Amino acid sequence: DHVLLLGPPGAGKGTQSKRLADEFGLEHVTTGDALRANKHMETEHGTPASFMDAGELVPDAVVNEIVEEALSSTDGWVLDGYPRNLSQAEYLTDITDLDAVIYLDVDREELVDRLTGRRVCEECGANFHVEFNQPSTEGVCDVCGATLIQRDDDNEETVRERLRVYDENTAAVIEHYREEGSLVEVDGEGTPDEVFGRIADVVEEN
Ligand code: AP5
Ligand code: ZN
Repeated sequence: DHVLLLGPPGAGKGTQSKRLADEFGLEHVTTGDALRANKHMETEHGTPASFMDAGELVPDAVVNEIVEEALSSTDGWVLDGYPRNLSQAEYLTDITDLDAVIYLDVDREELVDRLTGRRVCEECGANFHVEFNQPSTEGVCDVCGATLIQRDDDNEETVRERLRVYDENTAAVIEHYREEGSLVEVDGEGTPDEVFGRIADVVEEN
């Protein structure tokens, strides 16, 4: 299966992609994690960090290369965080086909609450929330026991900028798949289990 999981920052793409990957035996391909792992790599356009910490998009040339390499080395995958503008969407169409395109819909203020309260594990990438998805011991990863941190771009100011960048660039990608007739909208509110149930139904049908 080739599954695309779309949605604004904080919609739950990371949370749900990890579960999909586990339960359907897919590879989780995420540009956000790939870029964070190479944050300080020098490219001719600057480091990824210089864009990410400001909430801006990393240049297409850098991101397209990451995605092409990741997708070419695996059969079944769930892609999270890409495409984020129409030119990335075109690039993706050129390199692969898609079985399911899922859009996670969540209310705007809920997105801000989810992101500013998010805590992530630096070691294994698991994510938690100070209120909605608490680890069993405060500040400690349930999966691997490492310390949880707040992402550099999860402060309220940068979160608002990420949402603005989403409206300016990524909303058009959603419209593109909607017009093409491939977009399946899923309600992204409710518990992570409820949302997963809805997504799993879509993937099973495709
Ligand atoms: P990226 O890492 O992709 O960030 P994002 O799109 O902003 O998405 P997030 O990871 O913030 O949110 P999510 O939807 O995965 O939500 P999560 O599951 O964590 O990108 C970061 C940066 O990298 C970009 O700003 C850009 O600079 C760069 N970049 C990445 N891709 C790029 C590209 N293609 N082109 C150019 N630049 C690119 O959930 C959020 C929180 O909510 C968590 O705390 C979670 O526990 C909680 N939560 C999840 N589900 C629920 C629920 N159902 N109810 C309550 N809480 C929930
Ligand atoms: Zn961990």
